[in-house]
Amino acid sequence: GLYIRNKVPPDKSDSMVRSNGGAIVKVPKFNSKDGGSPGLNRTSLRLEELDFVPACDIVAKEAISAIHRAKTQLCKQKLANITCLIQQRQLYPHHLPNSCPSPGFTAGKSLGCYRDEKKFRLLSGYYANLKTTNSPKHCINMCLQSGFPYAGVQYSTECFCGNEEPPSASRRPDSSCNMKCPADPKEACGGYFTINVFETGIAKFTPQVPREVAESGEPPVKIAFLLTLNGRALRQVRRLIKVLFHRDHFFYIHVDARQDYLYRELLVLERSLPNVRLARHRYATIWGGASLLQMLLTSMNELLKLGWEWDFVINLSESDFPVKTNNQLVDFLTANKGQNFVKSHGREVQRFIQKQGLDKTFVECDAHMWRTGDRRLPWGIQMDGGSDWVALSRPFVGYVATAVQDVHIQKDPLVEGLNTVFKHTLLPAESFFHTALRNSYFCDTYIDNNLHVTNWKRRLGCKCQYKHVVDWCGCSPNDFKPEDWPRLQGTENRQLFFARKFEPVINQAIIDQVEEWLYGPYPSNVANLQSYWQSVYHCADLSPPPDDSLVTLAASLTRLSSKGLALRADGNSCFVHPGNVLEVTSYHNNDNYKGSLLLYEAVVNGGSKTVIIETWVQPQHYMTILKDTEPSRRLKTFLVSSEYDQKEQMSRNFLHNLGPFSEPILVYQLGVNPQPSTYNVTFLWVDPAGELVEVSEVHVEDGLVGNYVKPLLREPLLPGIWTVNMVYDAAVVAFTHFLVTPLQFVSGANVSQQQAGFLHSGPGQPYQIHDAADWNKLLDNKIDRSALQRKAVVNARRFGLDLKDWIDNLNMKFYKVLDTCVTSSSRHVLLECDKLHLKICENTAWSSLAPDSKSQIGMVNLTTGRLN
Ligand code: UDX
Repeated sequence: GLYIRNKVPPDKSDSMVRSNGGAIVKVPKFNSKDGGSPGLNRTSLRLEELDFVPACDIVAKEAISAIHRAKTQLCKQKLANITCLIQQRQLYPHHLPNSCPSPGFTAGKSLGCYRDEKKFRLLSGYYANLKTTNSPKHCINMCLQSGFPYAGVQYSTECFCGNEEPPSASRRPDSSCNMKCPADPKEACGGYFTINVFETGIAKFTPQVPREVAESGEPPVKIAFLLTLNGRALRQVRRLIKVLFHRDHFFYIHVDARQDYLYRELLVLERSLPNVRLARHRYATIWGGASLLQMLLTSMNELLKLGWEWDFVINLSESDFPVKTNNQLVDFLTANKGQNFVKSHGREVQRFIQKQGLDKTFVECDAHMWRTGDRRLPWGIQMDGGSDWVALSRPFVGYVATAVQDVHIQKDPLVEGLNTVFKHTLLPAESFFHTALRNSYFCDTYIDNNLHVTNWKRRLGCKCQYKHVVDWCGCSPNDFKPEDWPRLQGTENRQLFFARKFEPVINQAIIDQVEEWLYGPYPSNVANLQSYWQSVYHCADLSPPPDDSLVTLAASLTRLSSKGLALRADGNSCFVHPGNVLEVTSYHNNDNYKGSLLLYEAVVNGGSKTVIIETWVQPQHYMTILKDTEPSRRLKTFLVSSEYDQKEQMSRNFLHNLGPFSEPILVYQLGVNPQPSTYNVTFLWVDPAGELVEVSEVHVEDGLVGNYVKPLLREPLLPGIWTVNMVYDAAVVAFTHFLVTPLQFVSGANVSQQQAGFLHSGPGQPYQIHDAADWNKLLDNKIDRSALQRKAVVNARRFGLDLKDWIDNLNMKFYKVLDTCVTSSSRHVLLECDKLHLKICENTAWSSLAPDSKSQIGMVNLTTGRLN
């Protein structure tokens, strides 16, 4: 089945150092173990924490925990209000209408319901006999209301009347259970009724094969692609638009409200392409958040109003890519006009509900989905869900997205009720459309196929990596890599049109392969096909707020680059004075990170004109093997960075910039062990003042081991050069250095002397390390601790030019300037300063300004309707 993720509540007790991801637990642990802070295991709210008085006495433990953990008062109040509404039974509908004319067929396990002397009881067995009752119908109703605990799961029934247990020829089935039974059934039925209660199964409708409808002369359908985007993979998004583009289709693009860069850079497409529009009403669509559904419905509503004549909406993200041509997709959907494509979970409904957390209330605020307690889903409808990647017909989109948005339109009670329920649902788009489809007049347009193949690798993708965003364990599919090609190729003869996920910073070769598969190779003279550039920083961005350590590093590297240029120009005859950093871009070639590019303004020889320069830099790694031992011999990677992605097993901080507020992570990889054995190694973290600040022990197993260690370090980290020592068999066998850069900027402004004193003095509290003396013995011969401590104190006083010097001296050791170019608009500098021998960026293969035709969006080709 499609639904293969394991969503269970997060366990905050996971040790930070236990890098393989701890066991996934089944019970919520927020109450007693919330960061170890005392007093959380209580059953009432601490009112003094709140600047409002809750409307009711909040008793649910989970709600209390959520209110306590929320950061802002506004959010705490929202959590309290919703909890009170639910406690007073004023929020959720008790019952919703089901207007599906053909409620599917029954399937699944038969659940029995019978009445003994005292009460109705639920049986999980197959058949149950009703020995004494007046009416089977009455029994079933009683049974459904009192015996069956699960709203949201629909049951159907069949009844038999006979004097023997089935299977018996004498039984008389009546699926509506409207048998006329006399007052004393014992007489009429020979003593027994048998009632089977079934969980209603999922009706399956198969889509039409295009061939069969091709002759019917139906005009080809038009598709509205609803792109829901996040992140900074601009060039991949342009590539996606390019591969999907046809002038007859439409593109409606929602960019997460927090992503200035992607929004700004895509907005320009509206100017040249009339069928592209960006959503102006933008949501901060956190992972799994209720806002994702609000965003989809608002966007669909907009799509209905734009005057565009589309027949289907297909939602896609920045990491989707087609695996069939546009024509194949159009043929298929033309043959299936009016159908709705959603993928269902394929389990028992109740099990799905529990796994998905549909029976819990979630409240979104402070960019988090807070779990506030259990809830009962409405009676009368059947919950359904699976994937949130869908292809919906225009009539159905009109049904779900009009009623909720427009006040003047009479609201459909099902849609309205579902809206209330799904405003407080985790991963709402994974169930809303399915449930609306299944219980409405559209139920027989339900096709159990979301047209997608998804690269699930549970072992990697289910590590509760969204704990900081949702009170639940979420999973993500992996990015496709060349080794996954058979899986993509396997879609060829199936009704699958898209695949996810693709990320060129992880692997671009597979995207090239898919595109070539669909549309043939690019002409051989196309340059830079194997390159990929992705923005890390742009000076025009306010959100997300730029990382001060990155801005500091970038400014420092432009100083180093300019100094290098001046030297190259033979003394100071060509003095380059760096100005603002405009952009930082990471540069990848052949799926290797090649370094980062700094685009900056500069003034040459004190002139009045600003020139724009791009410099290519590369982080330097230090790994020293001191002793030839089993683990040191196997060491392939041993470096410190941040932003470790457990799913893709790599650090997303390519430049490895770390500042006093970063969370460093040790990334290590050991080669295959020729003689199988397992053992422990220890990592000793030593700060720039020579103090041992953390000891992390890891267990090394056989085989290729890629892993990470997240130390618990106090902030602000002491700036300067840190060391991580690898200890095996009571000796330091290898070590690496990493840099924590002092900050030149805080929130974009130069730091003052006072700020520098605070930022650069370290955490202020001494570390208490168990057995420190013993560990220090292993380190002592290398460290003159008192000299380092004195130096750290002096460094913390540095500011202004002196601070910049310190920063530049450190960065010189950890970064290398590889090359520099000027933009063509700045070529006049070459005349002024011909000794620089600079290249023109637009003609330089590594430059972010080099041609990149796979992502270049040109004009619409009038013959083909596609983009040039
Ligand atoms: C998985 C499932 O495949 C997907 O169906 C479900 O919606 C989320 O979990 P995953 O890879 O984890 O996917 O999520 P991702 O593709 O990163 O995000 C899902 C959507 O939310 C994308 O459209 C993405 O652009 C958007 N998103 C995500 C945001 O808008 N903001 C965020 O902060 C995170």
